[in-house]
Amino acid sequence: MSEIAFLLNGTPVRVADDRPTRTLLDWLREDRGLSGTKEGCNEGDCGACTVMVTDDSGSRALNACILFLPQLHRKAVRTIEGIAGPNGALHPVQDEMIAHHGSQCGFCTPGFIVSMAVAHLNGSSDHDDNLAGNLCRCTGYAPIVRAAEAAAHRPVPDWMKADQDLSLPRMSPEGSGETSGLPGAFRPRDSDALAAWYLAHPDATLIAGATDVGLWVTKGLRDLAPVAFLNGVTDLQQIEQSGDQLHIGAGVTITDLLQAIGPLYPSFAGLLRRYGSVQVRNAATIGGNIANGSPIGDGPPALIALGATLHLRRGDEMRRLPLEQFFLDYRKQDREPGEFVAGISLPVSAPALRCYKISKRFDQDISALCGCFNVTVDAGIVTAARVAFGGMAGIPKRASATEAALIGKPWTRATAAAAAEAMALDFSPLSDMRASALYRMTAARNLVIRYFHDLEGLPVSVLEVGS
Ligand SMILES: Cc1cc2nc3c(=O)[nH]c(=O)nc-3n(C[C@H](O)[C@H](O)[C@H](O)COP(=O)(O)OP(=O)(O)OC[C@H]3O[C@@H](n4cnc5c(N)ncnc54)[C@H](O)[C@@H]3O)c2cc1C
Ligand code: FES
Ligand code: FES
Repeated sequence: MSEIAFLLNGTPVRVADDRPTRTLLDWLREDRGLSGTKEGCNEGDCGACTVMVTDDSGSRALNACILFLPQLHRKAVRTIEGIAGPNGALHPVQDEMIAHHGSQCGFCTPGFIVSMAVAHLNGSSDHDDNLAGNLCRCTGYAPIVRAAEAAAHRPVPDWMKADQDLSLPRMSPEGSGETSGLPGAFRPRDSDALAAWYLAHPDATLIAGATDVGLWVTKGLRDLAPVAFLNGVTDLQQIEQSGDQLHIGAGVTITDLLQAIGPLYPSFAGLLRRYGSVQVRNAATIGGNIANGSPIGDGPPALIALGATLHLRRGDEMRRLPLEQFFLDYRKQDREPGEFVAGISLPVSAPALRCYKISKRFDQDISALCGCFNVTVDAGIVTAARVAFGGMAGIPKRASATEAALIGKPWTRATAAAAAEAMALDFSPLSDMRASALYRMTAARNLVIRYFHDLEGLPVSVLEVGS
């Protein structure tokens, strides 16, 4: 069956014979005439294209510009045109945006309304976080946040709950499910099917959240075929604890990971809270974040500092390796043709783990550098150290000289300062648009001192340090 089916503003739709990498944004505007969903950046940064997507795991805000049609199979999409009631009644967030003067030119407004309506539906009241992925150039955020606060006291309209009673099986029998998609696309339902298909098509592109691959299409104008969509592979989306290990499937989204690890590794969760925006975290997967091998990805430094084991699968063969060994050179990973990332496992306990993201903006920004530390101190002496950085080399990398300068030494500020000096042996960072080499090295060294103060209980977060 070469078609996909989903609900659009409550109405079943089917799409056949389209490109598997056609974005929802283009399809809405060009094929359906639903031009309320705006195109701003076309790369996931501005939120003008925000839509609500619902499946049996709940309702999420996503950026339609980097969402491919097959990712919507058997889900429900609600655009700005579906946020008001069927009889034209305004949604509470629309009412309150008018009452609080939350719009001027209005270009950003549909995206804001959808983000606010999803947060309102989910009862989420961290408005700064909910709206960090929506850019407004003229109104300013204060009236918009006031509107969100006012709407929070009003009930969720009935029509906003309708998508959660999906009845999608009636709409589209899943059948084997594995061929459902669009021509040139494969949509496996489990990792066995994925493994067999990828072994037979090792040149194919795997698409998980598409927060990276989406830009290859919208900005790189690349034709990607064949492709496999991983979002139906539910056995790769599990988080399980067994003994002292936490196993995280490659298909777990950053949003779900953030929720799961919050109690275990609060500092890692704090780092993920600054990963892109709500819309990006709702799509991006930890497997994609590892597999793309970016030197500035936020997941790998934290995972390396935790001592993560990477699980890879090729056909029926599984292999595992310490995550740091996966990254060989700039954009070159230890991955065979037809091999994919199945998951990672982590030690459950890491009380000394701290993760520090340095970027120009607090929210919705890529790291200039990201330093993660995990030191064990026994009777005042450092007995083990794992230090990993992103943004300091062509790959996410362990700082072995820095670690060596810590191990066996008393845990003092002087030791931290000596370890900071040793960092010159670990890294020769580059200058680029995000930071100069000097800035990177200085900031990285300062993070060692910050880590020392952090473990001593001093306030170090920009959210805690006052004037
Ligand atoms: C606006 C915006 C903000 C962002 N902010 C951040 C940020 O703050 N921090 C950060 O780290 N990143 C950020 N990113 C980058 C992006 O989120 C990551 O690259 C992301 O983790 C990719 O995951 P994905 O599931 O979307 O992968 P995809 O885009 O689907 O795939 C990325 C790559 O991984 C491969 N792949 C995916 N899954 C697997 C698998 N299981 N096995 C093998 N290969 C696989 C794909 O083939 C592709 O090569 C941002 C991106 C955008 C658009
Ligand atoms: S158009 Fe900017 S996030 Fe989609
Ligand atoms: S009202 Fe103009 S960009 Fe927000």
